[in-house]
Amino acid sequence: MADTNPNRTYEHIVRADKLSVAFGKVRALSDIDLAIGRNEIVGLIGDNGAGKSTLIKTLTGVIPPTSGHLFIRDQPVDWANFSVRRAHDLRFETVYQEKSLGEKQPLWRNFFVGRQITNRFGFIKVREQRRIANEILQRQLGFRGVGIDADSTVAKLSGGERQGIAIGRAMHFDADLIILDEPTTALAIKEVQKVLDFVRRIKASGRAAIYIEHNLAHVHALADRLVVLDRGRIVANIRPADMSLADLTLFLIDLQKTKIGAAA
Ligand SMILES: Nc1ncnc2c1ncn2[C@@H]1O[C@H](COP(=O)(O)OP(=O)(O)OP(=O)(O)O)[C@@H](O)[C@H]1O
Ligand SMILES: [Mg+2]
Repeated sequence: MADTNPNRTYEHIVRADKLSVAFGKVRALSDIDLAIGRNEIVGLIGDNGAGKSTLIKTLTGVIPPTSGHLFIRDQPVDWANFSVRRAHDLRFETVYQEKSLGEKQPLWRNFFVGRQITNRFGFIKVREQRRIANEILQRQLGFRGVGIDADSTVAKLSGGERQGIAIGRAMHFDADLIILDEPTTALAIKEVQKVLDFVRRIKASGRAAIYIEHNLAHVHALADRLVVLDRGRIVANIRPADMSLADLTLFLIDLQKTKIGAAA
């Protein structure tokens, strides 16, 4: 799948410059410098409480930073005007594990939640929504001949397929940055493989992703770059080709040891 969007001419979809977030006395993020390329899959890893979720919440307008700057498509962000809504308008989509799809609703309805296609009288264009949903299922997600179409209900889908729907939605609405916060937690192995395939499709379609994942084997196999957070700071930028999975695992175990040492 080639990048079909000629407007993706910027260098970085997002770049943080000395970004810090404090919750009272807790410094959740300290001086984060991070640039995500236009078509880069970045794996964000680190222990519980390292600041991973806080970082993506700051990038998506959920939490304002205490200090620092943010650039989106190389343009500075004005914090006074930045919000979840604004990040959405700028084509950032976040996919959470618990993303709520309506269980009893057909898939086409779920695709268009909050973004209905209407005619000039405000009526929902059902046929068109159904057609587009089928197209996304087949072309973008490769749901061919598995008995799933736009009229299937969400209840019929496996966990991995649900994640796929959420990712497909993000792609259809032309998100340029798709953020996945542990999308595979609690999925069966077969389902995890489906989610990993969907992440590969994000890359193949010319977009960028930030992928938070506790399973090191998954991020190591998938990401172009791994960013390691530790107690609110970026402590390593790793290209998977330069560090084996075994060495990465040892590196993270050593980090934990220094943490225990620091607390003693
Ligand atoms: N709303 C909040 N109020 C106060 N403290 C918070 C808040 N959100 C996060 N924190 C604190 O900030 C730090 C970073 O939390 P964060 O949720 O970003 O970690 P994480 O890396 O996503 O962890 P996990 O892997 O467990 O999801 C933690 O010490 C956490 O307790
Ligand atoms: Mg988290």
